[in-house]
Amino acid sequence: MPQSQPQKILITGGAGYIGSILVPMLLKDGYAVRVLDNLMYRQHTLFPNFIDKKFEFIKGDVRNKEVVKKALDGVDYIIHLAGIVGEPACKKDPELCYEVNLNATKLINDLRSENQKIIFGSTGSVYGKVDGICTETTATNPVSDYGLSKLQAESAIKTKPNYIIYRFATGFGLSPRPRLDLMINDFVYRALKQKVNIVYEAHFKRTFIHSVDVGRSFVHAVKNFGKMKNEIYNVGSEEMNFTKEDIAKKIQEFIPYHLHFADFGTDPDQRNYEVSYTKIKNTGFDLSVNLHDGIRELLGGYQALHISNPFSNVD
Ligand SMILES: NC(=O)c1ccc[n+]([C@@H]2O[C@H](COP(=O)([O-])OP(=O)(O)OC[C@H]3O[C@@H](n4cnc5c(N)ncnc54)[C@H](O)[C@@H]3O)[C@@H](O)[C@H]2O)c1
Repeated sequence: MPQSQPQKILITGGAGYIGSILVPMLLKDGYAVRVLDNLMYRQHTLFPNFIDKKFEFIKGDVRNKEVVKKALDGVDYIIHLAGIVGEPACKKDPELCYEVNLNATKLINDLRSENQKIIFGSTGSVYGKVDGICTETTATNPVSDYGLSKLQAESAIKTKPNYIIYRFATGFGLSPRPRLDLMINDFVYRALKQKVNIVYEAHFKRTFIHSVDVGRSFVHAVKNFGKMKNEIYNVGSEEMNFTKEDIAKKIQEFIPYHLHFADFGTDPDQRNYEVSYTKIKNTGFDLSVNLHDGIRELLGGYQALHISNPFSNVD
């Protein structure tokens, strides 16, 4: 009997924090996966996947039309993750932020055929400051270049049918490409390695999702595309809405460290909101990793992580 071809998925930015977790999940589920990534962090996170015949890698830039055309050839789905991620990185080079987050998204969307389904990794930062509970219909008012570039990219994606837009909570947890700039990851690192954390805007409410659950949410979107398409979803869980103080105190349940609250410092995205995740829950998706298990994982992983200070005489 002739074997049917597996469905092929292009993941842009697939060597990043989320992509490195998602790629093996999709391969394991039988999909063929092509990654397009310029490896801007010199990461080698995808090495374990090259043994799989269903895996393909293109080193290239999502801003390059010829490269994108080649990457799109023959794919059924596009999971678009490539980006300049987070406000500090966008603030450092705003031009690059809009080129990659917005212009490259427009390019990919223009070049994809309507049959090629796209799932776009957007962010809760598109909401900006919100009063009350935030749903997908809450007015967007981004206060950072990161949030604005992602919101404008969402508009570009919506110009063609066959899309799903995911607005994620803040990721946390380990990944082959660790990110210490994410709030929980940063708090745990400080508590473990520096034994101290000074928290500003301690009462600000934020919402979180483990990196594995971000990966699972994309697998869910591919499998349920027909019933989920042409919609925006907040991705996370109400059970993962916490204040910064909650997080800092939760870490103290695991290890002792000095915790101080300060009245200086502000979050560049001014995110202080509670988010409703009813819409994605109604499609059958829920989280698998809670805060407790995520902190435990980070503490375990960070024992093995050594980041040296180049200006210290002693390592
Ligand atoms: N991690 C989170 O908390 C979170 C939350 C909300 C949304 N997102 C979104 O999910 C996506 C992935 O985030 P992440 O946390 O994995 O970030 P990341 O920075 O680890 O990954 C981004 C990837 O894109 C690649 N890349 C950057 N510029 C490129 C270019 N010009 N051409 C090709 N590749 C390029 C990088 O090399 C990297 O592998 C992003 O679009 C981000 O906005 C992430």
